[in-house]
Amino acid sequence: MVFYDGCSIFVLFIPYTFSYAELKAGTDDFSPINKLGEGGFGPVYKGMLSDARAVAVKQLSVASHQGKSQFVAEIATISAVQHRNLVKLYGCCIEGDKRLLVYEYLENNSLDQALFGNKTLFLDWSTRFEICLGVARGLTYLHEESRVRIVHRDVKASNILLDSDLVPKISDFGLAKLYDDKKTHISTRVAGTIGYLAPEYAMRGHLTEKADVFGFGVVALEIVSGRSNSDSSLEDDKVYLLEWAWQLHEDNRGLELVDPSLSTCNESEAKRVIDVALLCTQTSPNLRPPMSRVVAMLSGDIEVTPVTTKPGYLTDWKFSDSTTFLSADASTSNTDQSTQFSSSAGTTQLSDPNYTPVNVSASMLGEGR
Ligand SMILES: Nc1ncnc2c1ncn2[C@@H]1O[C@H](COP(=O)(O)OP(=O)(O)O)[C@@H](O)[C@H]1O
Ligand SMILES: *[C@@H]1O[C@H](CO)[C@@H](O)[C@H](O)[C@H]1NC(C)=O
Ligand SMILES: *[C@@H]1O[C@H](CO)[C@@H](O)[C@H](O)[C@H]1NC(C)=O
Ligand SMILES: *[C@@H]1O[C@H](CO)[C@@H](O)[C@H](O)[C@H]1NC(C)=O
Ligand SMILES: [Mg+2]
Repeated sequence: MVFYDGCSIFVLFIPYTFSYAELKAGTDDFSPINKLGEGGFGPVYKGMLSDARAVAVKQLSVASHQGKSQFVAEIATISAVQHRNLVKLYGCCIEGDKRLLVYEYLENNSLDQALFGNKTLFLDWSTRFEICLGVARGLTYLHEESRVRIVHRDVKASNILLDSDLVPKISDFGLAKLYDDKKTHISTRVAGTIGYLAPEYAMRGHLTEKADVFGFGVVALEIVSGRSNSDSSLEDDKVYLLEWAWQLHEDNRGLELVDPSLSTCNESEAKRVIDVALLCTQTSPNLRPPMSRVVAMLSGDIEVTPVTTKPGYLTDWKFSDSTTFLSADASTSNTDQSTQFSSSAGTTQLSDPNYTPVNVSASMLGEGR
């Protein structure tokens, strides 16, 4: 496909198309044994292609509003965006109403499993610091450097995969857009996972790349502390990671956040990561630095801007189906673009199958305290 946008000509390569038969054979008919997990878009299976490449096959179970050619164009965009810190998309499969995506398989799983899982993979401090930097570089590329600018919308630990050398690779970028048919930054549907959601995006659907900066800040604190953003098994003042991190920061005890299972840790690096994360999670998107500045601050090229205001965090979500979701800002009708909420093990996932509209109200960290 060739596009001419008035000032530059660029070529989008048609993505490689796999046959359903090959993917079916390569995953043992999508056997449960090969299932790697399941997120908002559908299940993911480990597979082996006929050329012996290991792949992760994502079955998109939610019907996209887009037609076939638009779907292909979107997949072409995702395939064209390549960086050391982004998961490679090998291609897709479109047969009848089947839609599948084929990604490179990353053998060391996702960051959430390494940090909060059975910890079969131990990440030492220097690895964690490099992971923070790598994720920041990948997001900088998506936001500021790639030909097509992409807001990820779902930056979270399970979307950071680790390769054989523990190099972090961001996955699922560009996916939320497949389900977004309105050309406005005000999305009537929130993709993302509560706990990583920027307040302005969650409550008003206002989407800019600063929503990803917020998600990055949460992931960075999870990497330093080795715990998830919300953990109700902990003492009251520690349940919400951002709240706890801010409390420690105010008391000049920021480094107490560092994962106790780390035997050594470079304190100046850890302090930098924590301070940058608190900047990234500010309530006002304008106070959050662009990702290129995050990279510069983390690597010590520029000073970290001092943080003086507490981060913004959604702590209390109430769901009901009586009022319209995001009605304040969403200019478009959302009868067929609603948000589904399901809750499991303390994390609430937002995905977007056709579902009854729900009302969300949220209270912010520290409000009224
Ligand atoms: N390319 C991949 N290589 C290895 N594992 C993957 C890959 N993609 C996804 N996974 C695994 O599958 C799980 C489910 O992925 P996904 O459907 O994107 O849901 P989520 O990101 O919400 O966990 C992930 O948590 C990850 O552990
Ligand atoms: C990554 O995972 C593979 C397979 O589980 C394992 O053999 C390897 O040691 C891991 N790499 C690192 C750096 O831990
Ligand atoms: C992780 O540990 C739990 C019990 O602590 C166990 O049930 C589960 O199978 C383990 N998962 C893996 C992948 O080892
Ligand atoms: C900590 O990291 C900085 C660079 O980020 C380095 O200059 C310093 O030597 C490190 N300190 C230790 C004790 O390793
Ligand atoms: Mg994912």
